[in-house]
Amino acid sequence: MHMHKFEKIWLIFGVAMLIVFLTVIGVSAFYLGNQPPSCLATIDPVKVDTTAPFNEPGLKKVEGKEWDYELVFVASAFSYSPGAVEVPLGAKVKIIATTKDVIHGFEVAGTNINMMLEPGYISEHITTFDKTGEYLILCNEYCGVGHHMMTSKIEVVE
Ligand code: CUA
Repeated sequence: MHMHKFEKIWLIFGVAMLIVFLTVIGVSAFYLGNQPPSCLATIDPVKVDTTAPFNEPGLKKVEGKEWDYELVFVASAFSYSPGAVEVPLGAKVKIIATTKDVIHGFEVAGTNINMMLEPGYISEHITTFDKTGEYLILCNEYCGVGHHMMTSKIEVVE
């Protein structure tokens, strides 16, 4: 079979790129451990209030983990619990959130924290707040008539 020189070059280029991209994804996922925000952690949505850690929403100091604090949020139509929380400046915080009813959003305005909260699933995000101030949390998934009033806030203090 005769193949034009350009065709061969293009074919080699295509296969090489495929190998490069698959290698990058493979190293990122299996060596660096980059996984989707929540590795499919599930919860019974009707038992959220009695399931740890969601039975005690808010900030909790933890020992012996990669992060210093766990910040637990429970979303339900049309509010978050807690409605406001203080976080110490520079602390590494793992945000853990879920919803009791429908799909809600969890966006921290001005940051790259943006999670979807789905009933039955736990969403997590590890972050460090390195600027003091007030951070607005808002719901960015339309969830009903009170959607636009659904907010909370994180106050980063020294
Ligand atoms: Cu909750 Cu929109």
